[in-house]
Amino acid sequence: MSLDAADFDTWMRQHQALAEQTLAKVLPALEHAPARLHEAMRYAVIGGGKRVRPLLAFAAAEVVEAPPERVALAGAAVELIHAYSLVHDDLPCMDDDTLRRGKPTVHVQYDEATALLVGDALQSLAFQLLAEHTLAEEPLRQLEMVRLLAQAAGSRGMAGGQAIDLASIGHTLDVTELEFMHIHKTGALIRCATLLGALCGNPLGEAERAHLDRFAKAIGLAFQVVDDLLDAEASTATLGKTAGKDAQANKPTYVTALGVRAARQWARELRAQADAALAPLGARGARLGQLADFIVKREF
Ligand code: IPE
Ligand code: IPE
Ligand code: MG
Ligand code: MG
Ligand code: MG
Repeated sequence: MSLDAADFDTWMRQHQALAEQTLAKVLPALEHAPARLHEAMRYAVIGGGKRVRPLLAFAAAEVVEAPPERVALAGAAVELIHAYSLVHDDLPCMDDDTLRRGKPTVHVQYDEATALLVGDALQSLAFQLLAEHTLAEEPLRQLEMVRLLAQAAGSRGMAGGQAIDLASIGHTLDVTELEFMHIHKTGALIRCATLLGALCGNPLGEAERAHLDRFAKAIGLAFQVVDDLLDAEASTATLGKTAGKDAQANKPTYVTALGVRAARQWARELRAQADAALAPLGARGARLGQLADFIVKREF
């Protein structure tokens, strides 16, 4: 492993641990009623997952020297929304999956009503975090963080993308339509995580913010292109979720639209676009560049 790769590996582990500790701290304790719901919320969030969204917030924070305690909370808010989206995504009325992060899905381990409520409660908790801690220098900037997360999670973001995903079953989508679906269902939260990390620190100029946003948009799309590839190519054991589900459910993906080779090439091209967007940030964007590399080259 090169020095750079070893350094990134250490950084990733440290920040995954910080994300994990923060999530464990902000989730309601089991002593509080209703204990079963709180237990299921922890089951959905703790112990598993790459924590890519908090990692993006931490990496973006390096661009603006943001205090890690703030970034940890902002990253946790996005991760709670992501965890909720996974719980609902796995429900029988959506992708009907029984395995997630190497464990039975929440509705299998508990029941469907609990899985719905876990999602509802994680979403509320995310916004509570953004409202009850000082995360930005200016109150107006913090309010913008709330707005960005609401937009990214809602019908013009993740939830809208999921609606398109379900409506597309059995249909062929062209690359423009696929891109629209992916930048909503997955890209929106990834983009938001990056921006929230950056909003926790020194103010960004308009041009710098646009570079960062261009980076986040490209890498958010790349993330789902790779997810499509892994669904087709990796094993259930490696993924910790059932492989081959997209083909089984007759979903249009980058693999069905382009084939494996061209989809892989498109992920690399998006990574190059992300890199180009980072270039004007110089050394301050180095961590984001390493993380983009991880996102495109990951095997799970
Ligand atoms: C899976 O996301 C669902 C998508 C949005 C593609 P991740 O691959 O980030 O899942 P975890 O959090 O690591 O389990
Ligand atoms: C899910 O996309 C995106 C979400 C908003 C959860 P997928 O349905 O492809 O995610 P996996 O493959 O089940 O993790
Ligand atoms: Mg899905
Ligand atoms: Mg799914
Ligand atoms: Mg998938």
